[in-house]
Amino acid sequence: MDKTISNLSHFEGQEITLKGWVYNKRAIGKIWFLILRDGTGLVQCVVVKGEVDEALFNLEADLNQEDSVMITGSIRKEPRSVGGYELGVTRIEVVQHVTEEYPIGPKEHGPDFLMSNRHLWLRSKRQNAIIRVRHRVIKAIRDYFDNNGFTLVDSPMFTANAVEGTTDLFEVDYFDRSAYLTQSGQLYGEASAMAFGKIYVFGPTFRAEKSKTRRHLTEFWMVEPEMAFCDLDKDMDVAEDFVSYIIHQCLEHCQEEFKILERDTSKLEGIIPPFPRITYDEAAKLLIEKGADFEYGSDFGAPDETLLAEQFDKPVMIHRWPADIKAFYMKRDKENNDLALGVDMIAPEGFGEIIGGGQREDDYESLVNSIRHHDLPMEPFQWYLDLRKYGSVPHAGFGLGVERTVAWITGTKHVRETIPYPRTMSRLEP
Ligand code: 4AD
Ligand code: MG
Repeated sequence: MDKTISNLSHFEGQEITLKGWVYNKRAIGKIWFLILRDGTGLVQCVVVKGEVDEALFNLEADLNQEDSVMITGSIRKEPRSVGGYELGVTRIEVVQHVTEEYPIGPKEHGPDFLMSNRHLWLRSKRQNAIIRVRHRVIKAIRDYFDNNGFTLVDSPMFTANAVEGTTDLFEVDYFDRSAYLTQSGQLYGEASAMAFGKIYVFGPTFRAEKSKTRRHLTEFWMVEPEMAFCDLDKDMDVAEDFVSYIIHQCLEHCQEEFKILERDTSKLEGIIPPFPRITYDEAAKLLIEKGADFEYGSDFGAPDETLLAEQFDKPVMIHRWPADIKAFYMKRDKENNDLALGVDMIAPEGFGEIIGGGQREDDYESLVNSIRHHDLPMEPFQWYLDLRKYGSVPHAGFGLGVERTVAWITGTKHVRETIPYPRTMSRLEP
């Protein structure tokens, strides 16, 4: 068992050495306290005059925030202390002494300053907790698909074609031609589903969107399941089951983090299937009824999404969209050719769209027409069209954005705090 702060309960009564960094310290006469952080948590270390030699007792004056240290002492229960345990110090070895003032102090800092110091900011309690929840979300994503018969089949980052429209592509030099950074692994996911049945693609995706909202990154992580012999209804069944699984894994494993984040988890506990499902038409009517400035046929803006989400206490799935505002690959509704069999899932509490997906066009001629209609070049889609020539089947899938999901679960306003090193229009460093 690792000798870490998260494991202290296993070492009660024993003398161990913890390795970490000085988080804080304070002295009161014949006793001083050091809060140590080791990346897994915080613990109070106590140094008492007379119980340790003079040199160790006097070390207090020399220690600075973020000094790296190895601290030896015995572990005892202390319910009043952070984490419920404390360490009675017998020895401190300083690994590196910090001589400059640490940029991030207890005073309030602006978001821009903190983002510029993201490499250090990650050490702070709140940021650390968010990234731990992210870790759990990603583990839950993998476990869900691995345990339900999906095979991980990754897609390339360099691609020759657009998936989600041509306006937000990152173009890069690729020897004697251009390539694009992938906006979504979906098209490869479809090919893989025809080879493996049920698959998922999981990796970073890129959008050159000139959006400065709190929901947009230029590089974000998306997981994209794709299923052969699957229609829109079945796709929505999987989406709600999947999202509920992620939430409940976090509730089971991230209580410490939720406490640090002061997240009201009661709002997450009720997230169990079935989720409400409404059509785009119903959603549009609802918005107009509620007095939103919304025009039928357009996409929902962030305030519209928030207003819609407020009508439900679970994520809401909006399906059957005007085909004109959705991607070229979406299958049309048999009942109404103007509608595409797409679905968006909107998270509660104003966190916006977390899933986009739907049933794919599986007919060769219709897909060719759709590529033409969207003014896309036919050539790079030849391989994609092959899937409709050789054993085409109804199939569906979706993409879930990791950062927006983590933002919702942790109650974090801005997605830039839900990825370790965010990329936005204005930020390429650190
Ligand atoms: O709705 P989107 O664009 O759907 C697709 O890319 C489909 N090809 C997925 C599929 O069916 N396989 O993106 C899916 C999700 C969104 O719901 C959102 O959560 C996230 O990806 N997303 C972003 N997250 C952060 N920053 C951005 N710029 C994002 N764009 C989309
Ligand atoms: Mg979308």
